[in-house]
Amino acid sequence: MEIHELQQLLSEMSLQEKIGQMVQLTGVYFDKGAVLTGVVGEQLPPEWIIQYAGSVLGVIGKDKIYDIQSRYMEQHPHHIPLIFMADVIHGCRTIYPIPLGQACSFHPELVSEAASIAALEASSEGLRATFSPMIDVSRDPRWGRIMESFGEDPYVNGIMGKAMVDGYQQKADTKIAACLKHFAGYGAVNAGRDYNDVEISQRTFLEQYVKPFRMALKAKPAMVMTAFNAIDRKPISGNKELLKGLLRDKEGFEGTVISDWGSIGQLEEQGVAADMEEAAIQASEAGVDIDMMSPAYMMYLEKLVESGKIPEALIDESAFRVLMMKNQLGLFENPFAGLGKSGKLTQHNREKAYQMAGESCVLLKNEKKILPLSVKKKVIWAGPYTASREFLSRWSIFGEHESVETIEEVLQKKQIEAECITGCNILSDAECKVWQVEQELSDKPRDEQWLETITQEDTVVCVLGEHESQSGEAASRAFLTLPEEQQVLFEKIAERTRNIVTVVIAGRPLDLRRISEKSKAVIMAWRPGTMGAEAILDIVYGRINPSGKLSVSIPWCVGQVPISYWDVKTGHVLTEDNSENRFTSRYMDIPNTPLYPFGYGLSYTEFDISDIDVQIGQDKKVHVHCNVCNTGNVAGAEVVQCYYETLYASVVRPKKELIRFRKVFLEPGEKKDVDFCIDQEEFSYYGKNMETVSSGMKLRISVGNSSDHLVSENIRI
Ligand code: IFM
Repeated sequence: MEIHELQQLLSEMSLQEKIGQMVQLTGVYFDKGAVLTGVVGEQLPPEWIIQYAGSVLGVIGKDKIYDIQSRYMEQHPHHIPLIFMADVIHGCRTIYPIPLGQACSFHPELVSEAASIAALEASSEGLRATFSPMIDVSRDPRWGRIMESFGEDPYVNGIMGKAMVDGYQQKADTKIAACLKHFAGYGAVNAGRDYNDVEISQRTFLEQYVKPFRMALKAKPAMVMTAFNAIDRKPISGNKELLKGLLRDKEGFEGTVISDWGSIGQLEEQGVAADMEEAAIQASEAGVDIDMMSPAYMMYLEKLVESGKIPEALIDESAFRVLMMKNQLGLFENPFAGLGKSGKLTQHNREKAYQMAGESCVLLKNEKKILPLSVKKKVIWAGPYTASREFLSRWSIFGEHESVETIEEVLQKKQIEAECITGCNILSDAECKVWQVEQELSDKPRDEQWLETITQEDTVVCVLGEHESQSGEAASRAFLTLPEEQQVLFEKIAERTRNIVTVVIAGRPLDLRRISEKSKAVIMAWRPGTMGAEAILDIVYGRINPSGKLSVSIPWCVGQVPISYWDVKTGHVLTEDNSENRFTSRYMDIPNTPLYPFGYGLSYTEFDISDIDVQIGQDKKVHVHCNVCNTGNVAGAEVVQCYYETLYASVVRPKKELIRFRKVFLEPGEKKDVDFCIDQEEFSYYGKNMETVSSGMKLRISVGNSSDHLVSENIRI
């Protein structure tokens, strides 16, 4: 439709119809089988559904959506199509590793490809919008949602977020609307407890937490979702200063702002709105275009316009944005576009999931090069995840466990001789009791005799981890431990052999001290998705050379969190030379540094990064050059990372910040040049009075292959 036709349509719509565009209802009002991703309140009369829903969340399926859409459009006074949205977070039917794992690939092109496949599968089953990517900077692994983020670094979140948006929205006929979330600051919830308040300075908020949004907005996502939390005690869903002032006016966002589930109604709970009516005023004035699942807009907007408390122009603006989004997706021309266009879980989609799973795994330790193992060697694979299909996540709501192969099955398929013993249940820790998850393995008889047969000559690959439901929304944890039964199993194995390779399946960094100490090799596989088992096996047996780098620090223990490599500078710095000095900034009982830092990850080959040179070019940009060489004898990939530090500033600044990275694929002996070109304004920061400082700075530029393994040069800009 042409813009003037859309405007004409808007002018013909009743107030109720326009408000309808601003209301999103969960699919359970349309289809009992819809997935619920929040709490449903009232029962709605059917006629309200037609009037008061412009979009639906949580329903999928070609026939279902065809049916709901046809019935809806027939009854709607202007036959305006619904838009079907859902949380397609890391794949739709073919499931990729969790975003935290995808970020470890440091391969944005691959992240983008995976998103475009997710869009293809989703649109083929009727979905035209996803609530992804989540680009909340996350440095507290207690927070269950850390799995959905791209980790602790603002730049990585921005790059990966942009790549995902591009992937979702790229192809004209199968694109789905992307949604950046949660604007903003949600990753900093106090104490890692979900839905908690956020207490960070305005400076940190703007510099670190808004930065990824600023970067990803360049890809023109159709939507931005408001966060549940408040910033400076002002909840985002009613925050005009942030939604209009910052997001729209300063950052230039022109798309649709959607609330999180019930976050408008929540303004009442947060005590900033006296009642639901006031919540509706605050949110609509702040520019929230769609109310996801709170009664506020549905019940009060009409009354508020009629009584003159809010102008109809505000409703027109929001309704028009929703119509624009539908138009951009081509829904007016064809409300069923994309339906049935592609198959799911095709060979091609699986291959990409395999590649992504391989690149997401991070090799944390490889003592005496125990890995890769030879297929000729007899190995015992142990642990509950050898026989489990739980490689997806709670946020892969349309993922099907039946499509996941187990490690045991892949071993058989590849005819690799190995003994496979689960040893214990996935979830049996007292801490996890609350989840009441059906135990796939709980009925299997427990036989521990196999343990007695392990000798110190044996090699055991332990596949251990958290349960799927222990991470995701509303899944904060106070302890970062493996379930107790798995710890016990591990200890029993460790009593018998030193030749242990541990593969960790988790939605967050865990406390891996004991695992790391007692295993010769450790692979962090995150939740690796549909093709996880095959990728893990191929890493262990050397068909894949690991190239993942940590997108988030693995803390030494929970006492260190929140922790990130970009923590700001302090005085009383603990150094190698002053460890006897009591008055240093440190813990008495644990180290300051994480067990494994951001950017870290091993390979089966070695790389040498050399010839670092930093210049300011005639174009006034900072040019960083280095060489990277594969000095080992297998092909591999290295992630060259460039960081900077502001050596002196009017305010305290981070110790270092990632400013560029590049994944370089190299044959044995091969050497490549790596060049980074950086605009000077990318080094700018907020000065004492929140003014932008972008010149007169002395910087230290560092290049290396981990945040703790860098070579530096100083320059002045
Ligand atoms: O998209 C999610 C959001 O991230 C958390 N609350 C529910 C939404 C819709 O499912």
